[in-house]
This record gives sequence, C-alpha cells and structure tokens, in this order.
Amino acid sequence: MTTVITYGTFDLFHVGHVRLLKRLADLGDRVVVGCSTDEFNRIKGKSVAIPYDQRVEILLACRFVNHVFPESNWEQKREDVLREGANIFAMGDDWAGKFDFLSDIVKVVYLRRTEGISSTQVKVTVRESPKQ
Ligand code: CTP
Repeated sequence: MTTVITYGTFDLFHVGHVRLLKRLADLGDRVVVGCSTDEFNRIKGKSVAIPYDQRVEILLACRFVNHVFPESNWEQKREDVLREGANIFAMGDDWAGKFDFLSDIVKVVYLRRTEGISSTQVKVTVRESPKQ
C-alpha cells in the first residue's frame, strides 16, 4: 500500500486542485491531505473565503482524496508522515526544494502546477466581474 501525503489550503476548490489530486492518486493507493486551518492561514498572512470545515468537506467529496487532517503549524510534517505511514510526500512545484529535508523518511516529489488558475486568481476574477 502506497500512501501519498500532501498539504494545502484548497480554498475555492478549482481544477488546478483536481488535477494535482488526480496525479497524486495515480502515484499511490491512498491520498491523505493536510488542509491548513483558518488560524494557520491567518498566521501565514492569507485570508480564506471558505471556512476550514467546508474545505475539508469539499476535499472529502473528491474521489482522489481518502483522508483529510488539519495542518496547523509548520513543524508537524515529520510527525504526520510517520503517523499516516506516508511513502510519498508530494507538493506542487511552487514549493520546489522546500521539503527536501524530509527525504530521510519519505520520497519527496514536486509536481507541475496547472497554469493560469489559483484560488487568488479566482478571487480577483470574482471581485472584478461586473455586478448584476
Ligand atoms: N496547485 C496546482 N495548480 C494550481 C494551483 C494549485 O497544482 N493551478 C496545487 C498547489 O501546488 C498545491 C495544492 O494545489 O500543491 C494546493 O494549493 P493551494 O495553495 O491551496 O492553491 P492555490 O490555488 O495556489 O492557492 P493561492 O492562490 O491561495 O496560493
């Protein structure tokens, strides 16, 4: 059984998220996601449109996701990898190199992002669209 672990905010769930999660599902048998809490996003200086519980509900409705747990700090990753029995630690390449320090316990891979979409971009588009 190969378990793939990944992290993210997954705000305003979009096709870039779907494609990443599909590729993670193709890498193994089980995909587990550390979804960043609203509080952790505040710490990172990011604001979310969709609250944590709903982002988790949406992630769990995606057929490529098997399990979701909260990401609430920068230091928990080693513990999560061990607890979840993860074999592959995968992130989008906006994080390239940032998690290589985990490669003593897990295979670390970075996947190409889908171009032209992000939660931030969706927020900008909605903000700029004319009011009905
Ligand atoms: N991701 C991706 N392609 C995109 C957007 C995101 O592959 N176009 C991946 C990220 O690399 C990350 C995961 O999806 O591994 C969760 O990303 P997240 O930060 O939640 O999404 P973004 O849309 O990039 O959010 P933001 O605009 O707030 O940075």
